[in-house]
This record gives sequence, C-alpha cells and structure tokens, in this order.
Amino acid sequence: MLVNATAMLQKAEAGHYGVGAFNENNLEWAHAILTAAEEAQSPLIMQCSMGAGKYQTGYKTVSAMVHAMVEALNITVPVALHLDHGSYDACLECIDAGFTSVMYDGSQEADFETNLANTKKLVKIAHNKGVSLECEVGSIGGTEDGITGMGECADPKECKIIADCGIDFLACGIGNIHGLYPADWKGLQFDVLANIKKEVGDLPLVLHGGTGIPADQVKKAISMGVSKVNVNTDLQVVFAEATRGYVEAGKDKAEKGFDPRKELKPGAEAITAKTKELMEEFGSTGKGWN
Ligand code: 13P
Repeated sequence: MLVNATAMLQKAEAGHYGVGAFNENNLEWAHAILTAAEEAQSPLIMQCSMGAGKYQTGYKTVSAMVHAMVEALNITVPVALHLDHGSYDACLECIDAGFTSVMYDGSQEADFETNLANTKKLVKIAHNKGVSLECEVGSIGGTEDGITGMGECADPKECKIIADCGIDFLACGIGNIHGLYPADWKGLQFDVLANIKKEVGDLPLVLHGGTGIPADQVKKAISMGVSKVNVNTDLQVVFAEATRGYVEAGKDKAEKGFDPRKELKPGAEAITAKTKELMEEFGSTGKGWN
C-alpha cells in the first residue's frame, strides 16, 4: 500500500536525514527505483512530472502501474507517489487518480497572492483525501533553451506565510537549479536556508535540483533542515550511459540482443545502483519502517 509523504518526512526532519524523491519516466524507471528502495530498506518518494505523466498516457496509468508494482514486488518500505511541479489543475487530477502526494508549483502563477490563494484551497482538498502537499516559494532555476539561471533564493517571510497555510513540506530556492550545474555556480546559499528554517520551524524543506550538488553541500543542507532531495537528471544520465555501452559493445546485434527486455536492462540496473548510492548519501538507507 502506498502512503503519503508527511510522516516519512517528519521522521526524516527529526532524525536529520533526507528522503530521496526520484522521478520516474516509465515502467523500467519505476521498477528500478522501487527495487533500490527495497534493497536499501529506505523510505521512497517516487515522483512524476506533468510531462512524464503525459508521456505515460496520463496520471491514472502511472498511479495504477505504481500501485500494482508495489503490491507485485512485495515492497515492504513506505512509498509515496508524488506529483512533481504540478499546476493547480494537475494537483486535482492526481489526487483523483490515486497519487498520495502532490506538489503545487505556485511559481508558475502571475503573483504571490495567486500562489497563496491556491495553496489555501489545495491544503483543504489534499488533506481531505489524506494526500500530502508540497508548495513552492520563489522559483527554482535551470537550463531552458540553452540559458541557465543561477537559481533564485526564496524570501523567508513568504516561506513563513505559505508554511502557515498548513502545507506538509516546502520547496524553497537556496541557489539550487534543475539539471546540470554550470561551472561558475556559486553553491548553495546556507545563510538563506538558515533564515528560512528559522521562520518555518520543523516544517520539512525540499531541495530541488539534487543532481550535481557536491555531497558535502547536500549533507550540510540536510543537517540544516532539508528532508526531501529531488533527483531526476542523475538517473537519466546513468540510464543513457549504460544503454549506450550496451549498443556500442554491439550487444543489440548479438543473438536476441535486440529484445527490449535485454536492451533496457543495463540502464535499469544503473538506475537502481545510482538510487541506492544516493539513498546512502542522504542517510535514508535502513530507515524504512514497515
Ligand atoms: P535534477 O534533474 O536537477 O536532479 O532536479 C530534479 C528535480 O528537482 C525535480 O523536481
């Protein structure tokens, strides 16, 4: 059975470790990430972006697949299925489709007041169904059309206002960005993180753009109150590398090597290995309690 992410992140916040939130893209991804969580005996947040939901023919497909896989694989650790960077409408759709957690990305809205009004509405709707809610203050940068933003820092006062709406965990920019980091990246802004934490108390914080942040910075952020670390690009990179290795070694041309179950296996194994490595780095290995 899937759970929401509230209790697992409160435990992580109190225990000073991080729970990885790993993006799935298809059946192989979901299977590989679940395998990692079970092997590491780690709690898991499996997340799906709006784009990945569309790619997989919709949130109902993703939800049915993940629910069925957790049962079929006899997963014993707590697993939450979470919408990553959702619009207001996508949150409603995912709550209906059986997701146990959603993120409302209010940075897509025209102003803070709209973000705040929608957050208040979603707290009621999500909690009514036992679904956990992540919200975002400010926007987390990244590479788009070849232009890389350096990552905006959230305003601690705005964080406090959104936190007070009763959300379950908060994404706030502290210089982090999605995708690979540019060579001149200045690193995480720990003074901003400390100020936000002072405002929001024991509310678990979320670090987006987990790929490429040096391990010592991730660990320091976790020690200062980050409880959820989002990772997407890292898994795409190891999948692509392992798949390329298979093809470059000519294995797809060897007997039955073109069978997709064989062709996609090295990539899936690479995702499992990388996920386990990151769970160890975040400190969640052995923290699954079921
Ligand atoms: P990366 O792709 O940089 O790991 O970021 C993932 C993320 O933050 C998803 O919300």
